[in-house]
Amino acid sequence: MAPAESWWQTAVVYQVYIRSFADGNGDGVGDIAGLRDRLPYLARLGVDAIWINPWYPSPLADGGYDVADYRDVEPLYGTLPEADLVIAEAHEAGIRVLLDIVPNHSSDQHRWFVAALAGDPKARQRYHFRDGLGPDGALPPNDWQSVFGGPAWTRVPDGQWYLHLFAPGQPDFNWENPEVRAEFEDVLAFWFDKGVDGFRIDVAHGLVKADGLPDGGQGNDAAPGLVQHNESHPAWDQDGVHDVYRGWRTVANRYAPERIFIAEAWVPNNERLARYLRFDELHTAFQFDFLRAPWRASILRTVVDDAIKEAASVGAPPTWVLSNHDVTRTVTRYARSQPDHLIETDWERSRWAEEPADYALGLRRARAAALMQLALPGTAYVYQGEELGLEEVEDLPNEVRQDPIWEQSGHTDVGRDGCRVPLPWSGDTAPLGFSTNPDATTWLPQPQHWASHTAAAQDRDPDSTLNLYREALSVRATTWVGAGELEWIPTAPEVAAFRRGDAQCWVNTGEKPVELPTDATVVLASVAGTANQLPADAAVWLVAD
Ligand code: GLC
Repeated sequence: MAPAESWWQTAVVYQVYIRSFADGNGDGVGDIAGLRDRLPYLARLGVDAIWINPWYPSPLADGGYDVADYRDVEPLYGTLPEADLVIAEAHEAGIRVLLDIVPNHSSDQHRWFVAALAGDPKARQRYHFRDGLGPDGALPPNDWQSVFGGPAWTRVPDGQWYLHLFAPGQPDFNWENPEVRAEFEDVLAFWFDKGVDGFRIDVAHGLVKADGLPDGGQGNDAAPGLVQHNESHPAWDQDGVHDVYRGWRTVANRYAPERIFIAEAWVPNNERLARYLRFDELHTAFQFDFLRAPWRASILRTVVDDAIKEAASVGAPPTWVLSNHDVTRTVTRYARSQPDHLIETDWERSRWAEEPADYALGLRRARAAALMQLALPGTAYVYQGEELGLEEVEDLPNEVRQDPIWEQSGHTDVGRDGCRVPLPWSGDTAPLGFSTNPDATTWLPQPQHWASHTAAAQDRDPDSTLNLYREALSVRATTWVGAGELEWIPTAPEVAAFRRGDAQCWVNTGEKPVELPTDATVVLASVAGTANQLPADAAVWLVAD
């Protein structure tokens, strides 16, 4: 008999972008109080765990991925005692809690970097400080570019340069320094001691850089990027990083119940990804190919096969992600013409947005994709607002944009604010129930038409996307969890259909309806009224009679 599965091998994890989830203190910014108020909503939705984006003190140069203190909570979001409360209350509601750890870089306000800037040589060793090139050192030490645009180096008043693969306010740690290693192992223990069930690891492939920080070289000197990172680069995915995670696993293994890790690692292929999942390293890693896949059955099939195969090679569960706080929302991604290859760089969103969007079509496909995602073996991540069928807000006024990509790209990329707009909960006018204060101005403005997308409005509509997710999560628990291996059912090329045990999932990405098997009964469909035929851009779950 196969060993019993642990919760994290089949979990549905809901991503809470805390700044935009719910505002409990009336200032227009989401917070822990708001999250606590909404735990019953999450329990009713049926998720197994939440992953909370960084909630640590931060100047918010990159939405909190610039951490000033890893052992505290950002005052805008609440206090450490409130963090303890939300962890305990989530557990009472049967929901596990994953935090987001940001080990590649700190904020420039972190006490270590402040000391480094003041000139303390020991403190500089914890980051990457170098002299510049050229006779007067006025050129950056190498050709690396920031993921967000511009050089990855900033010069300080005394003439040295420091490395930041992201914003200048996010200096990269030097992971060759044992103090950095010890510090992070201690931070993990700090939160594990508070009962946190695990961590999502930010930029997990970035920590260790190639010895001597060599140039990326020809063809590689442009932004190494996250999504479009197809070639090897001395800034990313270095073998030395695995040693860090062996140390982290040792820390996690000291705890019961199990504490787990999920890596965000944009590596070139699933083979490289699987290396992070060896038995003495991390438990799971996001497989982003699913999120990059266009709405085409042939590509979806390949992506699924590849992900399952590579995860299985190291005994890890595959993970499925349709969107997150860094990419265009699913509805919008599916609302335009679909390429015939994986989307190389979502960060070209500004150019893409020039094509008109058909949101009804996008939503229809997103609902179908959700049924596919939730039927696959392994774990599924749901980004807040996916369950409401929200689209990307593409027309934010430029003056409200906060994502550093907007400035660093020289205003050529609008950045990621459009998927981070505060959630609509109820009512007809902004802040749409997001805040306890009806007069609050939300930190990013909500579109007026989201009044019809609110959780309250969808609660009343049996065919809403919210109710589809609720039902899917409940049926998943009894139908798909533990259902065994996936086997494809031969079908038309524009259909992806698979069976796991007695259950089947059919997805039609084509333009014409397809006949469904007659020896199975529909248990859930993305389009109401589906019985013998599966319409275009729809998905269905069936159970053999
Ligand atoms: C990850 C985060 C993203 C952040 C970046 C730098 O990709 O998901 O939001 O900007 O790391 O920390």
